[in-house]
Amino acid sequence: MQLFAVSGSAVTQRTECAIVGVFEKGELSHAGHEFDGKLGGKLSRLAKHGDLPTKLGDVLLLPEQKGIGAERLLLVGLGSKSGLGRKQYRRALAAALTALGRTRATSAVSFLSQEDVSGTDDYYLGRAAAEVVGAAQYRIPDLKTSKKPPKPTLQKFSIAVLERSGKTAAQKGLDHGQGIFTGMTLTRDLANLPGNVCTPTYLANAAKELGRQYRSLKVQVFGEPEIRKLKMGSFLSVTAGSDEPAKLIVIEYRGADRNKAPVALVGKGITFDTGGISLKQPPAMDEMKFDMTGAASVLGTLKAVAELKLPINLVVVVPTCENMPSGSATKPGDVVTSMSGQTIEVLNTDAEGRLILCDALTYVRRFKPATVIDVATLTGACVIALGSHLSGLFSNDDELAVSLNAAGLRADDRAWHMPIGEEYADQLKSNFADMANVAGREGGAITAASFLSKFTQGLKWAHLDIAGTAWLSGSQKGCTGRPVPLLVDYLLNYR
Ligand code: BES
Ligand code: MN
Ligand code: ZN
Repeated sequence: MQLFAVSGSAVTQRTECAIVGVFEKGELSHAGHEFDGKLGGKLSRLAKHGDLPTKLGDVLLLPEQKGIGAERLLLVGLGSKSGLGRKQYRRALAAALTALGRTRATSAVSFLSQEDVSGTDDYYLGRAAAEVVGAAQYRIPDLKTSKKPPKPTLQKFSIAVLERSGKTAAQKGLDHGQGIFTGMTLTRDLANLPGNVCTPTYLANAAKELGRQYRSLKVQVFGEPEIRKLKMGSFLSVTAGSDEPAKLIVIEYRGADRNKAPVALVGKGITFDTGGISLKQPPAMDEMKFDMTGAASVLGTLKAVAELKLPINLVVVVPTCENMPSGSATKPGDVVTSMSGQTIEVLNTDAEGRLILCDALTYVRRFKPATVIDVATLTGACVIALGSHLSGLFSNDDELAVSLNAAGLRADDRAWHMPIGEEYADQLKSNFADMANVAGREGGAITAASFLSKFTQGLKWAHLDIAGTAWLSGSQKGCTGRPVPLLVDYLLNYR
């Protein structure tokens, strides 16, 4: 997809489709007025008859235009002028792109970016537009045998800004947005695949493929013998019941001086979570194929970073395996020794994410990272606490939490700062090992984060619990691509 920022007169802009906003009561937008003038007052007449789309997201396609640069006008309702904010901007553009997708237009110019959208600037308008275009083009890699619907025809998308001086910022936004949606697409593709396709080996191959695509990456994949040599007893206890071999994926991105300490991203890569011997209930168990979205999102973020050639160093570590019950599976009460040397009593084999993450978090120490962020679909308790709108954000460093929170706000991919602490970690006391892997129902997302904090002492570390935000259920079932926008925003602003 080619993405451009343009300025200048709307009526002379040559394109196969001009996307033009209309406010409530038929009030025309900037571009609407321009087109109306050139078309002999046609839009005003439509407004008078009540035939213009005015409700947010309603659309009207006016094909076969003459006398203007655009072949089609796609009018889209923006709702009330004072209510036009980020959400409305994204929603109106998404509706327009859905309608555009039913035509065979290969190019389009959106004039929605000429309006006064509260809480935005030209950079935001570009970035959000690119993300919406990327989302509109996205297709689930389904395994349906029926004929595939035709591929989207749109190849060139532009946004118009009012002032020539805003073009640079808008173009930068479009470019960053393109990087973000390229990363999100990888995340969604991997997470949407079924567990029998997207195995740990499949994820490892996807990582190697990234290494072939970008010369800035160095990819290493370790198998179980090497994982054993690293003494990752906690990680290995999770894969013990599975026939699929576990993998530890390590990718280094170099975009800055060799001496600059890297940011480390660690992603939970459980390609299917049955709960193990502490077997889960059947309802919605299929959704546990999404339990590798943490891994998919750090790989997606890495792809965005490589695509955008960000001037940072980055390390991505993904421990990946299945959590299965079998004769060789870990049992409740088993005690395992983590790579850190700390012992863990596995009271519940369904609290497996923390068991693979703790060893990966110990492993990243060898890179002497400036910052470590792990991303995981870690707890159902986080979904109870925050629902599916915000990710849980936990950190042992308030400054880092503030930065990540701000990144989420800028990226429209919000997180909420939750506590961790000794009181919660104390709930993990065990009579048989240094700690237990669960601590009862109360504050489940916090005790999980506090478990991880026992392995990140001395590191500047944050944990994102994306159990509620990583995928949608019901008829919309599928991976959202979150928190790639938050993470890429954080890294775009990383100094
Ligand atoms: N992958 C799940 C968490 C999860 C559950 C994410 C539902 C999204 C939706 C995780 O491995 C898990 O099973 N956690 C347990 C922890 C409990 C045993 C302490 C949970 O949340 O029930
Ligand atoms: Mn589990
Ligand atoms: Zn899990």
